[in-house]
Amino acid sequence: MSAKPILVAGGAGYIGSHFCHVAAQRGYAPIVIDRLGPSSSRVEAYRRGASARFPLIACDIGDEAQVRAAIDRYRPVAAVCFAALIEVAESVAKPDLYWDNNYVRATRFFRTLATGGVQHLVFSSTAAVYGGVDDEPLAETHQLAPASPYGQTKLACELMLLGATENHQLANAVSFPSHGADWPPLPSDERTSFVPSSTLVFRYFNAAGGHVTAGLGEVHEPESHLIPRLLAAALGKTTDLSATINGDDYDTPDGTCVRDYVHVLDLADAHIAGLDYLLDGGNSDVFNLGSGSGYSIRQVLAAVGRATGVSVPARVGPRRAGDTASLIADAGKAQRVLGWRPQRDLDEIVASAAAFHRAYGVQI
Ligand SMILES: NC(=O)c1ccc[n+]([C@@H]2O[C@H](COP(=O)([O-])OP(=O)(O)OC[C@H]3O[C@@H](n4cnc5c(N)ncnc54)[C@H](O)[C@@H]3O)[C@@H](O)[C@H]2O)c1
Repeated sequence: MSAKPILVAGGAGYIGSHFCHVAAQRGYAPIVIDRLGPSSSRVEAYRRGASARFPLIACDIGDEAQVRAAIDRYRPVAAVCFAALIEVAESVAKPDLYWDNNYVRATRFFRTLATGGVQHLVFSSTAAVYGGVDDEPLAETHQLAPASPYGQTKLACELMLLGATENHQLANAVSFPSHGADWPPLPSDERTSFVPSSTLVFRYFNAAGGHVTAGLGEVHEPESHLIPRLLAAALGKTTDLSATINGDDYDTPDGTCVRDYVHVLDLADAHIAGLDYLLDGGNSDVFNLGSGSGYSIRQVLAAVGRATGVSVPARVGPRRAGDTASLIADAGKAQRVLGWRPQRDLDEIVASAAAFHRAYGVQI
């Protein structure tokens, strides 16, 4: 059977590049849409290298003419949208940039898919859509109250995608403090379709790890994620060989922030399960993707020590804007509906990331 073509927006980035690699081995033929920058030459080189393995349309997802031309040429059976700006702190400083890129351009992309006849979409959302955390682990029905423009733009896309789909499951997943469950309004017959008719929204917790034998790993700039920052310090790939802990007075067992880490290859597997599900006629829905286990910053520091043999000295700095004390997923729904469960634990995540950092000399 020939591979099924899929459009992968943001397929040159960290998670998208791992997904494309796995998808190509699992019956799909990725076509990457990615603008590749603006970023440092190192990040762009990673994105070019990763996407060179597949047909690449180097354009913005909001470029309706180029996206439509790609649809007409490749006739994709579905799309996956990883493309977004991803820095919480930057989004607090420059909300307009995030609303433009992550909402305005994304919605143009959704409309181009719909008008081009691409009816299935998997969309990357984030645990940053959840608000103050009182009970954990967090199920998809937890209160949605994003603390940053980054999380708000992702939630806005979720509303547009799931609020407008045929089976209207959003009301089960969203409870807005100031709106009734019938908001946003459902589409009426006279409206033209503006999003694909079946969409899975995946709310990732903290993606981490790499795939060194495929030459893939985490490359961001700025790099705000904990594991690559600690590895850079442990492996001497940064000027500052110590770690800064952003606050140790949170209401957590050791006072440092607790997060749920999920291996990027496990995320890739979830996307394959999601695409298979949609193509088999599965309903639109929203899923958490996480491991269900939380680790504090100090526990991750210890894991970096085990993977590298280096004990990174840590100092405590101020809290970071937009951070919450703890985010742990209840990913039971993804297991029940999609049959997905992460296979790799924290030590495997950190070891795979360390292997990539060693081999590719990632500087931070
Ligand atoms: N990394 C994480 O831990 C994490 C956690 C939760 C959610 N997510 C979500 O996962 C997705 C992928 O994250 P990542 O870590 O791989 O980020 P990344 O920055 O490595 O990759 C994003 C890719 O999208 C591209 N892109 C961005 N805006 C674009 C646009 N307007 N047009 C065309 N291309 C564009 C970039 O060039 C880049 O290649 C994002 O949507 C992010 O919000 C990531």
